[in-house]
Amino acid sequence: MKRRSFLKIAGSSAVIVAAGATGWGLTRTPTAALAPWQMAGAADYADPRVRALSYAILAPNPHNRQPWMVDLSAPGEATLFCDLGRLLPATDPYSRQITIGLGCFVELLRQAAAEAGFRLDVTPFPDGEDAANLDGRPAAHMRFVEDPATPRDPLFAQVLARRSNKEVYDTGRQVASSTLAALAESVGPTVRTDGTNEGPRVAMLRELTFDALKMEMFTDYTMMESIELMRIGKREINQNPDGLAFGGPLYDTLHLFGLMTRESLADETSIGFKQGVAMWEDLMMSAMAHFWIVTPGNARVHQLDAGRAWVRANLKAAELGVGLHPLSQALQEYPEMDELFAEMRRQTEMAPRETLQMFGRVGYGPPAPRTPRWSVETRIQGHS
Ligand SMILES: Cc1cc2nc3c(=O)[nH]c(=O)nc-3n(C[C@H](O)[C@H](O)[C@H](O)COP(=O)(O)O)c2cc1C
Repeated sequence: MKRRSFLKIAGSSAVIVAAGATGWGLTRTPTAALAPWQMAGAADYADPRVRALSYAILAPNPHNRQPWMVDLSAPGEATLFCDLGRLLPATDPYSRQITIGLGCFVELLRQAAAEAGFRLDVTPFPDGEDAANLDGRPAAHMRFVEDPATPRDPLFAQVLARRSNKEVYDTGRQVASSTLAALAESVGPTVRTDGTNEGPRVAMLRELTFDALKMEMFTDYTMMESIELMRIGKREINQNPDGLAFGGPLYDTLHLFGLMTRESLADETSIGFKQGVAMWEDLMMSAMAHFWIVTPGNARVHQLDAGRAWVRANLKAAELGVGLHPLSQALQEYPEMDELFAEMRRQTEMAPRETLQMFGRVGYGPPAPRTPRWSVETRIQGHS
């Protein structure tokens, strides 16, 4: 949630003044949780696979669960598994979105490997797949093949600048059709993309995304999934550098004084909950364009492809200086969402077998902060 919303809760409360006045606020950045952004590509990582992985862990992924675990026991290879303790069973019952996040990871790994002169040969789900559940089988097997002819990817220049930009966008600034076209061109051939910057269609999609967001927030078990993944304040964020992080002096202070707790945010009648809904409305209603990614089916490989495409578009957005923010609620497969899910498919003109894999808003907003990550060392096994 945004600072602005909680400023309204705290008002001119003396606690904020006190926090600023003591300088305590200056020490509230969760430095440890952000360290992986600094460490990416460090020369300390002697093994080129680990160096490439130190970039891949910066990939976008649902609720910042970072569901990746990589086995490096075979030299020159890497096997990607899903950490099954990091699923989102309420909002992502078939782990479609978790798999998309793994696809984002694979694409950044490929780009980082190419920078170092390695071609990444990827075999998706080498031991087969289950459409309903992810299981202990690998999501991808990857071979690092030294090949000086491997082209570098120009999008990789944006790997540290890329964000899911969750700020309010400037409603006075249009998103040009050429910008949407550039996003579409960046994704590669495995997916279809579409988008719109036409006023009436954007207005309708703003409403639809907000309706879906409210459905998630007013459905107990889906809201609780988010609440349980909230990390409020520096201590919680550094302890668990994943999930939904609310960091910085303001949140620390509100938390310290009991003004922002998981209990109050779960209570529909609380000011915190209402401010949360209002904050999301501001975000949805500031969309100046929408952009989405479609695959011809919904096999696991389609989901990986969608993730690879999404992170490419996200890197392109960073290059163009435009914000891109996934809004997944209306794409989610739980019964309470069925009607809005169908409406979203209608509005985005899905053909019968096509799957709407990713949908986001586009616009110009203030720069977004980096989000926490577990260090690369914690995501690797079988490496001496
Ligand atoms: C498949 C997928 C779905 C996502 N859905 C949402 C969403 O509905 N709302 C949202 O605010 N962010 C969404 N995100 C963005 C993640 O929250 C974000 O990637 C994560 O917190 C890490 O932040 P970063 O991308 O800025 O590094 C999604 C990301 C992925 C890959």
